[in-house]
Amino acid sequence: MLNVPSQSFPAPSSQQRVASGGRSKVPLKQGRSLMDWIRLTKSGKDLTGLKGRLIEVTEEELKKHNTKDDCWICIRGFVYNVTPYMEYHPGGEDELMRAAGSDGTDLFDQVHRWVNYESMLKECLVGRMAVKPALPKDYHEEKKVLNGMLPKSQVADTLAKEGCSSPSYDWFQTDSSVTIVIYTKQKDINLDSVIVDHQDDSFRAEILIKDYSYIIHVELSHEIEEDFSVRVVENVGKIEIVLKKKENASWKRLGHPLENHNSLILKKDTGLYYRKCRLISKEGVTHDTKLFCLMLPPSTHLQVPVGQHVYLKLTITGTEIVKPYTPVSDSLLSEFKEPVLLNNKYIYFLIKIYPAGLFTPELDQLQIGDFVSVSNPEGSFKISQFQELEDLFLLAAGTGFTPMVKILNYALTNIPSLRKVKLMFFNKTEDDIIWRSQLEKLAFKDKRFDVEFVLSAPTSEWNGKWGHISPALLSEFLKRSSDKSKVLICGPTPFTEQGIRLLHDRNFSKEEIHSFTA
Ligand SMILES: Cc1cc2nc3c(=O)[nH]c(=O)nc-3n(C[C@H](O)[C@H](O)[C@H](O)COP(=O)(O)OP(=O)(O)OC[C@H]3O[C@@H](n4cnc5c(N)ncnc54)[C@H](O)[C@@H]3O)c2cc1C
Ligand code: HEM
Repeated sequence: MLNVPSQSFPAPSSQQRVASGGRSKVPLKQGRSLMDWIRLTKSGKDLTGLKGRLIEVTEEELKKHNTKDDCWICIRGFVYNVTPYMEYHPGGEDELMRAAGSDGTDLFDQVHRWVNYESMLKECLVGRMAVKPALPKDYHEEKKVLNGMLPKSQVADTLAKEGCSSPSYDWFQTDSSVTIVIYTKQKDINLDSVIVDHQDDSFRAEILIKDYSYIIHVELSHEIEEDFSVRVVENVGKIEIVLKKKENASWKRLGHPLENHNSLILKKDTGLYYRKCRLISKEGVTHDTKLFCLMLPPSTHLQVPVGQHVYLKLTITGTEIVKPYTPVSDSLLSEFKEPVLLNNKYIYFLIKIYPAGLFTPELDQLQIGDFVSVSNPEGSFKISQFQELEDLFLLAAGTGFTPMVKILNYALTNIPSLRKVKLMFFNKTEDDIIWRSQLEKLAFKDKRFDVEFVLSAPTSEWNGKWGHISPALLSEFLKRSSDKSKVLICGPTPFTEQGIRLLHDRNFSKEEIHSFTA
């Protein structure tokens, strides 16, 4: 059961991206915004009906609470009474009811794994699911698979079928350093696949291998310096993380294992991992869009792959709120340097501020030096599909331009086969166009690149193209010069959905189209 997105919301000016499966937000009643919900949770009202008591919930009990007036949902073993949240749920009551009286973990994760329900629903917590009595071994094995958490031996089997073998690790030391060596036995591992964080007492390395994450997670046995280095020997898939000892003592062991240490888990089951990044600068780009620069901590190694997004997290009146954003380069005209600049500590974002929004006004209020939490990267876009590409068509609306920035930089610098890159950029007015002069300069500098601006509400002086995405606009724009072409599309839900329909009409296959989703 899917919500058919209405044409009225997201409003044409809103930059809500299309989400996978065509789902969309629904219009909420007056007084039912996320901010209103946060206020209600802080009002001291008893939202569970249990007067603050936490109980153990059996499956039989959970099943009984399956109506709109009495709705309990279990997520990751914790049961929430979501009845008071019903009218506030941006996905609508019917969507929430799909999980009524049951374990909604998988459903929740399929739609929006990144939503911080624990913080948003803390006043709705009823308790934990009761632990079941011990069951025969086979039953447990099967149950784990159902929750997406394959037992280790099966993970190995699944990987083996995909031509991969289980990773492993080792470590060695000198007087001044400790080197952790991870053997992934994969050929396509690069620096983007390695995320390392040393925060407080926890040292965590996550290696992305296809749909899985191999995790090293320990409380180190001795102190180390803040910075470390990461090397990847690509042809054998070996990763070396070199830590600098604070003292020259000999380590007897690497450390004490923490959650998921030395395990290979499905990426979607790892949970989002955040680190605090400092706001370095904030500069106006258009009347409502700003370029934010965040700095990663020195004890983090993280490179966001081209075309992927991260989640930013802020605590707004005591509740953690998370939203997705796509990192950009600091400019369109700088050389594409990410793959070679190993110590890139800065992440840039182009973000439109919605005065009536929840997250962006708060982000805009931050002072230089304040912190924002940044998650690991996510997204299905793979730049490797660009090898041999000859024609690249980019369709972007509003801040749907953001994934195109790094893609443009990358394609023009790294794909020798590329003959043409064309961007059609849809906005409401001329003032809304992000980096217009940079785009025009780039088109002047690189003859392979063309940009066309289309406005939906131009002034009478505008003599360029105008209107919404349409067959007429696309027929002229999408002239292929070979069969090695791709179209990338990003923008508000109605824009992307209409665009994809029109592309299919023009015989672009599914494989030739990529749309960006959360
Ligand atoms: C994968 C992905 C990447 C993204 N990357 C970027 C990026 O790089 N840059 C960027 O600027 N944005 C990006 N976005 C959008 C971003 O995640 C937020 O949706 C956006 O910043 C709005 O956040 P907000 O909390 O300030 O506004 P919201 O509180 O979501 O509100 C936005 C507007 O919609 C209205 N509204 C909200 N809910 C409803 C409703 N139920 N009915 C009617 N009206 C409503 C509000 O009044 C407001 O005007 C991305 C989205 C996705 C999915
Ligand atoms: C388990 C069943 C659930 C289903 C099927 C479901 C479905 C949806 C859908 C379809 C959307 C709109 C699409 C989108 O914006 O991505 C949505 C949005 C949202 N849902 Fe749910 N939901 C569920 C549970 C929950 C719960 C328990 C919470 C608790 C906090 C929640 C919080 C949200 C939020 C905050 C959004 C807006 C996300 C944004 O900012 O874009 N949902 N949901």
